[in-house]
Amino acid sequence: MFDKEIYVSRREALKKSVGSGLLLFPGNNESSINYVDNAYYFRQDSTFLYFFGHSKPGLAAVIDVDNDEEIFYGDDLTIDDVIWTGPMPTVNELAEEVGVGLSGSLSSLKNQLSKAIKSGRQVHLLPPYRPDHYIVLSGWMDVAVKEVDDYISLKFIQGVLALRSIKTDPEIAEMHLAADITGRMHTTAIKGARPGMIEYELTGKITGVAMSGGGNLSFPVILTVDGQTLHNHYHGNTMKEGDLLLVDCGAENGMGYAGDMTRTIPVSGRFDQRQKEIYQIVLSAQEHAISMLRPGISYAEVNMLSLKTIATGLNDLGLMKGDPEEAARLGAVALFMPHGVGHMIGLDVHDMENLGEDLVGYDASFKRSDIFGLRSLRLGKRLEAGFAVTVEPGVYFIPDLINKWKSEQKFSAFINYEQLKKYHDFGGVRIEDDYLINAEGATLLGKPVPKTIAEIEGLKQEK
Ligand code: GLY
Ligand code: MN
Ligand code: MN
Repeated sequence: MFDKEIYVSRREALKKSVGSGLLLFPGNNESSINYVDNAYYFRQDSTFLYFFGHSKPGLAAVIDVDNDEEIFYGDDLTIDDVIWTGPMPTVNELAEEVGVGLSGSLSSLKNQLSKAIKSGRQVHLLPPYRPDHYIVLSGWMDVAVKEVDDYISLKFIQGVLALRSIKTDPEIAEMHLAADITGRMHTTAIKGARPGMIEYELTGKITGVAMSGGGNLSFPVILTVDGQTLHNHYHGNTMKEGDLLLVDCGAENGMGYAGDMTRTIPVSGRFDQRQKEIYQIVLSAQEHAISMLRPGISYAEVNMLSLKTIATGLNDLGLMKGDPEEAARLGAVALFMPHGVGHMIGLDVHDMENLGEDLVGYDASFKRSDIFGLRSLRLGKRLEAGFAVTVEPGVYFIPDLINKWKSEQKFSAFINYEQLKKYHDFGGVRIEDDYLINAEGATLLGKPVPKTIAEIEGLKQEK
């Protein structure tokens, strides 16, 4: 955990920005896999972690802004619990560790909340994202499940967003650690991939690297020879000579901060000519995007310039035609890159998206596009010093999408469908790294991981 003062000052800042009412923070609970006592890996809610530090199930907290009180809630273990789970500090001790003066049982939380609601006080909630929270909150607040959403508070969301969006020095140190573990997952994958291996064998190895860093995966591993499927979680293919393997994975470190990187690797150790050409286009798009990172530029603009770089490269190969800038702006490049160039990253791999994707990524001056492809950009607003973002352009050949667009002759002024026939079996390339925006520009999070064609081929030759 961070020093107690960090949690205290974060809560002080939040109180000031919300101004009045009760702020309710339900921590996450255990979630069963196939019977009650067999639970999924426990992950604390990131906002609870940010303000209250403790990563244990069954906790909650309230900030009563009007009375300037903070109360930490949970139930102390019984001897029956201790036999199975071992001893744990009392709820009161947990509260003291993060500078909270008051503590109580979960039944006292129910009393406090239902009383507050009956007396007309404002209770602020963040949007729940786990089904069990709706049931728990309905019980605590003594309101119907369908009424829980009525308590979601834009002021609370905006207060949390403003704080969590700007990474402070102690957080940045954690993010470098997470990115370093993530980098080790990738060097393991680059060195390990070889013809004859099944995707799950390598997935298992890199999952082990993530866990050996003291935390876990930051999201389920994408490791596939079918890189054209953007979030492909199937790991049953055997890698073959000539295949490209797309590996998109990340670790979260022991403090819960996430890494998220992608490398695309030639299984046999060398890219062939066609693979080199497409890879180099994606690399140029990423380098171009990275060179633009600085406070004040909008991510919508960075996205547009990445798409333009891709269109220019594909024009040179004869797969696209026409003005690259227009192709990007009108949505024609979405055939090859139907996702956005990146997203915020922090305690969540897609940071704070549970608070509302548009609230995190857009604001009054940057509204989400409704054009296919462009609408998948999760972050469009202006960058600020302290934001941490991913930069992840890609080029994919998705046969179903190509066939659909071809049958509609969609954007036929920009797409050379005849030439594309030769690429149906290509797969996909994505390259992704994590950057911190600072006053001058941006800094790579973690140590650099081989990325150029020469670097990747070089690492694959190492024994
Ligand atoms: N890990 C999914 C992504 O790159 O956003
Ligand atoms: Mn990723
Ligand atoms: Mn990402």
